[in-house]
Amino acid sequence: MPTVVLGVTGCIGAYKACEVLRELQKRDVDVHVVMTDHATRFVSAMTFEALSHHPVFVDQFALGENGDIRHVSLADAADLLLVAPATANVLARFARGIADDALTTLHLASRAPLLVAPAMNVNMFEHPAVAENLAILRARGVGVVEPGAGYLACGWLGKGRLAEVADIVGAAMAALQRQRDLAGWKVVVSAGPTIEDLDPVRFISNRSSGKMGYRVAEAARDRGAEVTLVSGPTALPDPARLRTVRVRSAAEMEQTVLREAAAADVVVMAAAVADWRPARRADHKVKKDVAERTLELERTTDILAALGRDKGARFLVGFAAETDDVVAYARGKLVKKNADLIVANDVSGAGVGFDADDNAATLVDRAGEQVVTRTSKRALAERIWDRVRELRAARG
Ligand code: CTP
Repeated sequence: MPTVVLGVTGCIGAYKACEVLRELQKRDVDVHVVMTDHATRFVSAMTFEALSHHPVFVDQFALGENGDIRHVSLADAADLLLVAPATANVLARFARGIADDALTTLHLASRAPLLVAPAMNVNMFEHPAVAENLAILRARGVGVVEPGAGYLACGWLGKGRLAEVADIVGAAMAALQRQRDLAGWKVVVSAGPTIEDLDPVRFISNRSSGKMGYRVAEAARDRGAEVTLVSGPTALPDPARLRTVRVRSAAEMEQTVLREAAAADVVVMAAAVADWRPARRADHKVKKDVAERTLELERTTDILAALGRDKGARFLVGFAAETDDVVAYARGKLVKKNADLIVANDVSGAGVGFDADDNAATLVDRAGEQVVTRTSKRALAERIWDRVRELRAARG
């Protein structure tokens, strides 16, 4: 029986958390409730205690709560931390890692996935501070059940109303099912650009922040896979709880990916590997003593195509960044490189693609296509793994 820790925070929608709790129980989920002090002004802790058949955790300093250090034991037991409703205040404290009550302390102590269902006045929801905190949480892989639009308790019309109970419960069940569904898989993900040196101070490279590949690696890790991330130079920190191997050039990436792929079940090439490198690298800085200079370039190895030629039982995922005819080009790459899935992004739109936190893509495989409209890179990563799982299962 999965365990959900349901966090309830101080907002008028708190009463709906009772229904969320009941609906989860009907689906054989064991629910433990943690409330903020403010939440107890809206619904009594006794209501949740009676419904959940467990003590409700409100005050981490109350006597009796520290025999087993409750915020840690409950955090450990949780398969999912669901916060519904989530106020602007709790989102800010989660985003910044503040631990000043039972719920926010438990949040830091937990390795379980976090799902939040924000609820607040429309002006609060649209405030840049709230938007920024939600973006931080999304980038960290936190699931967000979007609030609905309509008449709000405060009388305003707009977005901010707690999502419908069915949507919250649906998102929670999907998050529970997704967990550890990649257990036993060995996964290699490449990410970021490669750098091809011309001399000790100059290089050519590709535009790539690495964010998409990092989110793909983190999503696989959180679903139980053993992950190796082969990363070109990026400004991103090494993700926790997976192995990161840093490389610089296309040649280094080729060597490392081919070595790591030998034992892998799935290889995802999200890296923007340079297609050419300078034919010669100067040992000393080249002086600008001539008016014109011709750069001679040679092709690098197409790593994805090389993996495709010697594929064995491995499942291969490639990316295609395009500005037009996105799906047609992706389908061409699928066949030419003998890949199993191509994630085709249209990088011409605003707010998606390079360096953005959001992306939109079409997942192209031999069976068909799935369009993923603009969403967080983490959410797209989840959709990619959902599809890889389906296709691998169909293959037996
Ligand atoms: N790729 C690779 N090795 C390279 C170049 C690209 O493995 N030397 C992989 C990328 O990681 C990505 C896919 O191939 O998964 C991208 O395909 P590619 O044909 O290189 O894309 P473009 O460079 O955009 O190709 P083109 O300009 O030919 O459309």
